[in-house]
Amino acid sequence: MQILSEISRTFGEYLLVPNLTTANCTPEAVDLSAPLTRHPVGESAQIRIAIPMVSAVMEAVSSPRLAIAIAQAGGLSFVHQNQPIAQQAEMVAAVKRNKAGFRHSEINIRPTATLAEVAALLEQAERDIAVVTDDGSPTGRFLGLISLRDFHPQRHDLNAGVETRMRAKADLVVAPPTISLSEANTLLWDQRLDVLPVVDNQGRLASVVLRRDYELHKRFRNESVDDDKRFRVGAGVNTRDYRDRIPALVEAGADILCLDSSDGYSVYQSDVLDWVRSTYGQNVRIGAGNVVDGRGFRYLADAGADFVKIGIGGGSICITRDAKGIGRGQASAVLDVVRERDRYAGETGEYVPLCSDGGILQDSHMAIALAFGADFLMLGRYFARFEESPSALVRVDDQFFKEYWGEGSARARNAARYGQASGLLFEEGVDGYVPYAGRLDENVSVTLAKIKATMVSCGSITLRQFHDSATLVEVSHQSFLQNSQDIRLRERPSGGRT
Ligand code: IMP
Repeated sequence: MQILSEISRTFGEYLLVPNLTTANCTPEAVDLSAPLTRHPVGESAQIRIAIPMVSAVMEAVSSPRLAIAIAQAGGLSFVHQNQPIAQQAEMVAAVKRNKAGFRHSEINIRPTATLAEVAALLEQAERDIAVVTDDGSPTGRFLGLISLRDFHPQRHDLNAGVETRMRAKADLVVAPPTISLSEANTLLWDQRLDVLPVVDNQGRLASVVLRRDYELHKRFRNESVDDDKRFRVGAGVNTRDYRDRIPALVEAGADILCLDSSDGYSVYQSDVLDWVRSTYGQNVRIGAGNVVDGRGFRYLADAGADFVKIGIGGGSICITRDAKGIGRGQASAVLDVVRERDRYAGETGEYVPLCSDGGILQDSHMAIALAFGADFLMLGRYFARFEESPSALVRVDDQFFKEYWGEGSARARNAARYGQASGLLFEEGVDGYVPYAGRLDENVSVTLAKIKATMVSCGSITLRQFHDSATLVEVSHQSFLQNSQDIRLRERPSGGRT
């Protein structure tokens, strides 16, 4: 038995002390891009993201819709693995069917459906326009568009068919699949369109170009896309069925995989990494974890992991520390692993990116985690609050919440992640709610603005500079308490603390 001499600390126990801000150090100059895959020191990683955020490998978080929204913002999503292989592969394929600017149409309806049905569909999806195809599928024969502006319950019989009120193809501007994105955007603006349907020469719908995506592109500019401009997406895998799951995910187009386990310092992860390298060489990129110290990092880095994920017990829905007495404060864990990562880079010339996973309760914790040396952050609670997350929106009294449950809860029954038999004898996560926060792009813009402002105060315009030059200080128990009291006083009943 040994007892580590240092105390296990979390991000909220530190503050950043400003460094000199020079004239070229402005929020506009800050580059938040981060590597996702291991690479020789001094070279660029094969896969990078423009913002250091990825979404958690969780059923309540990473759906195709959220994955597209994150990729548009410049991050990446990892579709969860606690589901049948074919279903997970289909989710990955659904994201990959979308090219930046050209979307696979999500809201589609048959012409024979009733106006009541289209109204319900639009309400449920929180959209105001649907595409009409002969079979109601995203690749059916394109017939027209119907929006909430085309009918009104008080003026029109809701039992009438969609075809009675839709704007038919003959009256619409449509584009051929050969159109470039900039030509499509010109058409959108010249013709004052909200949606431009792209239709092939058999008359089938190929994709749609949305005015909203143009606005998003101008705001974020650096979507996560592959060489064919398709959105990037990651996928979780486990140490049990990987021989079947990984080929299906690779076939579906997953850009990167991530071993999803609460404790990744195991021979099972090494076996999966060996199998991936012997089967695919470097053509399949895969991260591993989770670990909380330098030994775990070294083991997985030696085994060939593309990135290593840090964190046990810090997740907002996590009760692993209560259930098993295992874990480590996230700040201490990141600090220890970063030191080992830097030693490893010095010895081998290989830089292995680090992902800090879980325990981000406020936006300021993101800046602190990055200052500690994490390359990017995996977030569950943060993304679960947004419109695009897959969980249900519920109203309690006058407030809206989204459901959010842990992968180790009885609801998820993710036995593979927790190394339990399929029955899940005991829980390691809770099933609860998080305050609804609206659209992802709006929230992420604000969070990024805060991180950039912090970096500017600390005199850094890249994450590497930030890590190398950040000055951190531990917060005393007293100032910690005062700070928390202050937050309690300011917190409005409807507000989530971010
Ligand atoms: P959050 O961002 O603090 O909500 O943490 C999300 C992270 O918690 C995930 O990426 C997982 O690593 C971890 N996690 C997910 N489900 C559970 C669970 O049921 N128990 C413990 N940890 C979990």
